[in-house]
Amino acid sequence: MKSSKDKLLQVIILAAGKGTRMFSAKPKVLHTIAGKYLVQYVIDSARELKAENINLVYGHGAQQIKKEIQGEDLVWCEQQEQLGTGHAVMQAIANIEDTADVLVLYGDVPLLRTETLNRLLIEKKQSSVTILTANLENPTGYGRIVRNNAASNQNSVKKIVEEKDADEQIRAIKEVNSGVMVVDGDKLKSWLNQLDNKNSQGEYYLTDIIELAVQGGETVNAYSVEDQKEIEGINNKLQLADLEREYQKRQAVLMMEKGVTLIDPARFDLRGTVETGKDITLDVNVIIEGECKIGNNVNIGANTVIKDSIIADNVIILENCVIEKSIIENACTIGPFARLRPETQLFENVKVGNFVEIKKSKIYKGSKVNHLSYIGDTEMGENVNVGAGTITCNYDGAFKHVTKIGDNAFIGSNTALVAPIEIGNNATIGAGSTLSRDAAQGNLTFTRAPQKSIAGWKRPSK
Ligand code: UD1
Ligand code: CA
Repeated sequence: MKSSKDKLLQVIILAAGKGTRMFSAKPKVLHTIAGKYLVQYVIDSARELKAENINLVYGHGAQQIKKEIQGEDLVWCEQQEQLGTGHAVMQAIANIEDTADVLVLYGDVPLLRTETLNRLLIEKKQSSVTILTANLENPTGYGRIVRNNAASNQNSVKKIVEEKDADEQIRAIKEVNSGVMVVDGDKLKSWLNQLDNKNSQGEYYLTDIIELAVQGGETVNAYSVEDQKEIEGINNKLQLADLEREYQKRQAVLMMEKGVTLIDPARFDLRGTVETGKDITLDVNVIIEGECKIGNNVNIGANTVIKDSIIADNVIILENCVIEKSIIENACTIGPFARLRPETQLFENVKVGNFVEIKKSKIYKGSKVNHLSYIGDTEMGENVNVGAGTITCNYDGAFKHVTKIGDNAFIGSNTALVAPIEIGNNATIGAGSTLSRDAAQGNLTFTRAPQKSIAGWKRPSK
């Protein structure tokens, strides 16, 4: 729980902004990147830094935020009116200890790396305040870092001027304020007390504490981040999409660095985490969500979505499959166009083909369900062959029932198995049957109207 100078680290996350330009009923920080709330990224980095507590300054959508974001380390600080970043920090100040290093983060800046924050905390050891800056080709909109030109002052930071309060000369400065800073708790308190709102926006600017620090003879330093995406905030859907792509680009790079082949890294999305083995190839538009694990020598076809699933070695998943909360053992082949719903487990060498839906079922070694079938609440033995169009009728309108199919059974095409039902080992079911009673092992069982043929029959004609 210690940071620079072995000091306590306390975090204040500013997240009270309304996000008007998102045109949404949701508070801005509950929009997502890769399926995760913006503010959750910021909270997670604070946790990685082992912050003692995390003060979340919220305003709009309090109920929604509290419902979605949880943690015993979170201290909720309401800012009823958004009177500026300085005013926002004031809402948390009662929880700040004099001896702490206070790290201020923004709830709508999701891609800041923990390494960068660690660097910032190291820089902070030399000073009373350290600000995170960036040099931008186009600094429009940001507060500018004004430095002291006198050689004796070693180009030290003098103040931060907001764009709206800046003259031509200051606007030409390319070094900008990210908004992130680390500051001594006791000094922060005294500087906040001296803030006023006499500026073009009539707001209490947190940035004004820099000039107060310099005037008070304190050392202020700056750490400049290379990758400007790290400090970018989100105010509208364009920026949201832009940072989503940036995040996915980072994910794709990490995947490729681990040896995964991505046919097109620009068309890969990871919305969660994935553990990967060797020789995995992902075709375009594969989406991996939640927590997944993929073994060695696995091919995943285009447009496949995999969520919270485990895929073992030598598995081939063809195009356009949707796989959720499933376990797929070695050497299975799936798809194209297959849907595996939660609690599906396919054992070794199982084949699931086109337009097959499987739900809450176990399918043992070597069995095949190759075409146009629905298998639900089923336990299917080894080496079963399920013909095209087979349906397990697992639902009677009120309850779900189980189907059991024994080893080496052969289910003819277009069979309806009305559950609860059990098909014995080595049973053969004739095509087109509707079975509502168990089928004995080894037998041929079928229900079928006898075939008739009427000789010389004439079709009606006009
Ligand atoms: C702020 C900085 C500016 C910096 C820029 C970086 C100040 C005065 N300016 O400007 O120097 O370059 O960020 O993006 O600090 N917030 C609240 N309560 C408020 C006001 C803001 O919680 O009363 C939160 C917002 O939700 C947001 C963050 O603080 O997460 C920054 O606010 P924003 O209005 O975007 O600040 P800028 O004017 O862009
Ligand atoms: Ca902003």
